[in-house]
Amino acid sequence: MAETDQPPPPSDQLAAMSLTDAVEKHAFSDRVLIRSIVGRPDGGAGLAGQKVRAGGWVKTGREQGKGTFAFLELNDGSCPANLQVIVDAGVAVLNKLVATGTCVVVDGLLKVPPEGTRQKIELRVEKVVSVGEVDPAKYPIPKTKLTLEFLRDHLHLRSRTNTIAALARIRNALAFATHSFFQEHNFLYVHTPIITTSDCEGAGEMFQVTTLISESEKIEKELIKNPPPSEADIEAARQLVSERGEAVKQLKAAKASKSDITASVAELNRAKENLSKLEERSKLKPGIPKKDGKIDYTQDFFARQAFLTVSGQLQVETYACAVSNVYTFGPTFRAEQSHTSRHLAEFWMVEPEIAFADLQDDMKCAEAYVKYMCNWLLDKCLDDMEFMAKSYDKGCIDRLKMVASTPFVRITYTEAVELLEEAVKGGKKFENEVKWGIDLASEHERYLTEVKFQKPVIVYNYPKGIKAFYMRLNDDLKTVAAMDVLVPKVGELIGGSQREERYDVIRERISEMGLPLEPYEWYLDLRRFGTVKHCGFGLGFERMILFATGIDNIRDVIPFPRYPGRADL
Ligand code: 4AD
Ligand code: MG
Repeated sequence: MAETDQPPPPSDQLAAMSLTDAVEKHAFSDRVLIRSIVGRPDGGAGLAGQKVRAGGWVKTGREQGKGTFAFLELNDGSCPANLQVIVDAGVAVLNKLVATGTCVVVDGLLKVPPEGTRQKIELRVEKVVSVGEVDPAKYPIPKTKLTLEFLRDHLHLRSRTNTIAALARIRNALAFATHSFFQEHNFLYVHTPIITTSDCEGAGEMFQVTTLISESEKIEKELIKNPPPSEADIEAARQLVSERGEAVKQLKAAKASKSDITASVAELNRAKENLSKLEERSKLKPGIPKKDGKIDYTQDFFARQAFLTVSGQLQVETYACAVSNVYTFGPTFRAEQSHTSRHLAEFWMVEPEIAFADLQDDMKCAEAYVKYMCNWLLDKCLDDMEFMAKSYDKGCIDRLKMVASTPFVRITYTEAVELLEEAVKGGKKFENEVKWGIDLASEHERYLTEVKFQKPVIVYNYPKGIKAFYMRLNDDLKTVAAMDVLVPKVGELIGGSQREERYDVIRERISEMGLPLEPYEWYLDLRRFGTVKHCGFGLGFERMILFATGIDNIRDVIPFPRYPGRADL
């Protein structure tokens, strides 16, 4: 019989096996992860009797038995669960350990706690290896339950809280899922630039990247400290150059010694150098350089205007039109004055781009990708998802299951508007008027996905007037092959389209939208030379986290949120 064909051992044998199971060692630290103890299916019970070193931050601590021992709930961020640690007064000064936020590293023995306790395992401390103390009177986040708004004012410490740590693990899992999905489908990960000179969405919501301002400030300061030379100073320097020149001439004419001539030439050179320095400094002007009344960007760092990207799409298309299946995943920036719970000034976007594919393929890919992420979280992050369900959104796990297993509804924009008009007739009140041609507002999108269908909805074929220049014009000449994926809790999660691959049509669209052609010439080259049918989309990564976890505000699902008026750290 082959080894794998052996019957499973009887259950008492199994128990004995897991009892002797060694704790998984950490490869780059002398302590074990708390996850490798309490994250096991048996809650760590099978590790009883083993000695381990654990480290983490105290969630809650209390002295007990009239100060003879202390209970510490220790968390190292490796999983939502804490390790219960018991320290006797003989081992350490207990009141230095119990404050929330204290960092402790301890050696001890894993033991099964007495009957009736929640924990399956606890650590009896034999030695306290190190302590990072906390003064509870000064610690900004001493309590365990603090509002997310409050925590936004303490970005550097909020990762110590259960919620922000769980969100960090969920965010990490979704990033891994993203790479896994696209790699499995043979997409190439392409790094598109963060600094760009083209406006992808043509919406003019870009942050400018310039050194002109800091340079001009530097010059201003320097000129105050060290005023520019006057005309008289320069004239005097010029005079000196001509005098020194004359002296050299005379020495040469008088056939003076070589060393005298060399010395005189050196003095002339010094005078020339001084003059050119003064002339250079006299050109320094305070303020931003201008030419013909406009800012002179040729003097800027890149010798032209540059911005932070709003999307990597245009650049990633250059790779799609060469290596077929690509994606970019990086930070994007929008200088819009949006104070909503769905908008950030800096957010992360996942943007696949597929050659030889049309709008139908695009929708198929978007749906498969979203479903893949839902399954990934259910499979790999269930403990964190359970925490979210308990603390923030009862329905979040069911929502993931529903989305993973239900086909997305697909309706055209025209059908969507008809449904909204029907709703209005039926008494539904929207703040924004519904009529063909409007950009769907968040309230409309959420009505469709949360009330009407109660599942993800893909709306496609939008009026061309409200969409970007690069979307493919449909045969009706009124709509473009665009699609938005709308999901409950969030509204728009994904925006994408088939790209306009016809040279004449896209040229016309750029002009029609009042955009200059020159900056897009390279983009037009993709249509001039070897054009190909292609499509792609952008998924707002933070919106995916909102959707998955049920957290209400996008500022809480990115480690360092940037929005109008705030960019801490
Ligand atoms: O719909 P958008 O603007 O599409 C694009 O930028 C395309 N170039 C993408 C592409 O086809 N490659 O943005 C895509 C997604 C939105 O659906 C939304 O989820 C998210 O990005 N998003 C934002 N997320 C947070 N804060 C903001 N200010 C956002 N703006 C867009
Ligand atoms: Mg959009």
